Amino acid sequence: MSEETTHFGFKTVRREEKAAKVADVFHSVAAKYDLMNDLMSAGIHRLWKRVTIEFAGARQGQTVLDIAGGTGDLTAKFSRLVGADGAVILADINASMLQVGRDKLTDNGLVGNIHYLQADAQYLPLPDHSVDLITIAFGLRNVTDKALALASMQRVLKPGGKLLVLEFSKPSNPLLAKVYDGYSFSLLPKLGQLIAGDADSYQYLAESIRMHPDQETLKAMMADAGFERCDYQNMTGGIVALHRGVKPA
Ligand SMILES: C[S@@+](CC[C@H](N)C(=O)[O-])C[C@H]1O[C@@H](n2cnc3c(N)ncnc32)[C@H](O)[C@@H]1O
Repeated sequence: MSEETTHFGFKTVRREEKAAKVADVFHSVAAKYDLMNDLMSAGIHRLWKRVTIEFAGARQGQTVLDIAGGTGDLTAKFSRLVGADGAVILADINASMLQVGRDKLTDNGLVGNIHYLQADAQYLPLPDHSVDLITIAFGLRNVTDKALALASMQRVLKPGGKLLVLEFSKPSNPLLAKVYDGYSFSLLPKLGQLIAGDADSYQYLAESIRMHPDQETLKAMMADAGFERCDYQNMTGGIVALHRGVKPA
């Protein structure tokens, strides 16, 4: 891997190509994204998100930034928690995902304290020290320069503010890892083909998960970006991990 190249799943691509390829994936799956999430994870993604909300500890009046917020599952919960005095910014680079998210939240009556922002996690168009809490769920592995994105998050957080990264990670048990590999590489693309008419995007999903930094590596990256008290919690045997860090006060 040279300085000009990066991963797109298992493929090596030029760095400037990756964002467009990721965009194609999410434009393609947006309409079926929620259904596929439920099917692929047998609904367990809801539990992972609930744990994230509990760790977030969002309070009335706070400003929460949900990066790579997609169809808005976390944003919906934060919207209720921060109330009319607070605000939630659902930021995503992809217009199709944002549109599905906005329609879903609006249909559920969640209006008033939610702001929609089409933005790249690497270059957040927000002022320094302006948000109390940041979440990025299943988004970081799609970002070309993760260190740049973490630095951008660090910049916009208020001192003492918290970052939560929910992401696929490395299963701790080798047997679980084997079963999970079989599931991801044979069943997942077939399910993607059947439901979303798109096997390639779900092949990318499986590959991108394997290429994402493991628990300890991501924890070190967060510390390098200036977060303190960095820590993580494995869920479902490490298939998913919730990383936490705090911007120094
Ligand atoms: C797997 S979805 C996660 C959506 C939602 N957070 C959830 O947990 O259901 C990943 C999202 O990351 C977004 N994304 C990819 N690269 C991004 C970037 N550089 N900046 C912001 N969002 C990005 C995609 O558009 C997509 O909506």
